[in-house]
Amino acid sequence: MKDNKTLRIGLIGYGLMGRAHANAYKRVGDFFPELRYRPRLEAICGRNQSRVNAFAEQWGVESFETDWNALVARDDIDAIDICTPNDMHAEIALAAAAAGKMVLCEKPLARTVAEAQPMVEAVEKAGVKNTVWYNYRRVPAVTLAKQIVDSGKLGKIFHFRSNFLQDWTINPELPQGGEGLWRLDHQVAGSGVTGDLLAHCIDAAMWLNGGIKDVSAVTATFVKERTHQLTGDVQKVGIDDACIFHCHFDNGSLGLFEATRYARGHKALFTFEINGEHASIRWDLHDMTRLEYFDHDDQSVVRGWRSIHVSDSDQPYMDRWWIPGTSIGYEHTFVHQVADFLKSLETGEPCSPTFADALETQKVCEAVLRSSESKSWEDTGVTW
Ligand SMILES: NC(=O)c1ccc[n+]([C@@H]2O[C@H](COP(=O)([O-])OP(=O)(O)OC[C@H]3O[C@@H](n4cnc5c(N)ncnc54)[C@H](O)[C@@H]3O)[C@@H](O)[C@H]2O)c1
Repeated sequence: MKDNKTLRIGLIGYGLMGRAHANAYKRVGDFFPELRYRPRLEAICGRNQSRVNAFAEQWGVESFETDWNALVARDDIDAIDICTPNDMHAEIALAAAAAGKMVLCEKPLARTVAEAQPMVEAVEKAGVKNTVWYNYRRVPAVTLAKQIVDSGKLGKIFHFRSNFLQDWTINPELPQGGEGLWRLDHQVAGSGVTGDLLAHCIDAAMWLNGGIKDVSAVTATFVKERTHQLTGDVQKVGIDDACIFHCHFDNGSLGLFEATRYARGHKALFTFEINGEHASIRWDLHDMTRLEYFDHDDQSVVRGWRSIHVSDSDQPYMDRWWIPGTSIGYEHTFVHQVADFLKSLETGEPCSPTFADALETQKVCEAVLRSSESKSWEDTGVTW
């Protein structure tokens, strides 16, 4: 690292996540001033020279590359941040680890377990810091949920249920593939809602409630053919448009999960609910600063669901922001993840979820897709 303090980042891909991460690198030092390390967005990479140059100018990034290999080879880069579509994650991560760079990778870790496994081996062999951007763990209300579960307040857990609902692919005229639509292209995305949306639910579920042992799933592809945006050819749609699965967790509780891009009216309705012996909690991305909590130990006359506005300075991350009663949003989850990554450089602890953690999520995604094919229960092979 440059002066033993500056973590020089090379960011690949400047779309939705590229912007979210670039923002986080800029803000984190101002709000977490005690951290020994400060990130510096040294260079960004995209394939189109004029567009990547325009992004660099707009965001005040000093240099850019149009070939990610050139970025990975640079001596003035300490960490590679992968914000490209899913088909590029493995290749870039392997090269970055081989070059001794730290790697921050967007989710899902890869398209398949077979692709993800060598990524874990590579970062472990190279001994480089790594993390995967399952950023919802760092929504203060979700982190608070984790603290409540870990405190044992819920008692024995019986149920975990989670949804991630969208509606943006209902139109059968929507093409697949290419810019903005790579999520519909099986070759690039690896899967549909399972790897894109359920991966978030599964990461949160295992973090909060432990390993998922086995799964039984159904998937559907409602629109069977779409025109490919790049070639103009009408091609079979290979992704899952919707997926529902149920499962057993290692702790004996039952899980129920659903994701779809065909739930008219829902844009990004990520929810989870956990029901325990003594208490329950639930959370909803559309109302992300609130955590709902029901405690059966409350006096019966006032017993009911509480809606906790997670904005007090003794609640997770909130001492860094404004004053109690005011809210933060989506972009702050990325700032929190960068802060935790920088902290992990000081402590030597891993910054979860690591590549190894994300591989476990990948195993569940793959078991889900396998189960929908085999029409039977499938073991996940997860070791949480
Ligand atoms: N953590 C989250 O909540 C979250 C949200 C959205 C996306 N994601 C993940 O982030 C990744 C990127 O998604 P996005 O929505 O930002 O996509 P996007 O389409 O908005 O951006 C992708 C970027 O990658 C660039 N790119 C593609 N191929 C490249 C190559 N060979 N070399 C250099 N750049 C290349 C594109 O030009 C574009 O700038 C995906 O893996 C996705 O699953 C995560």
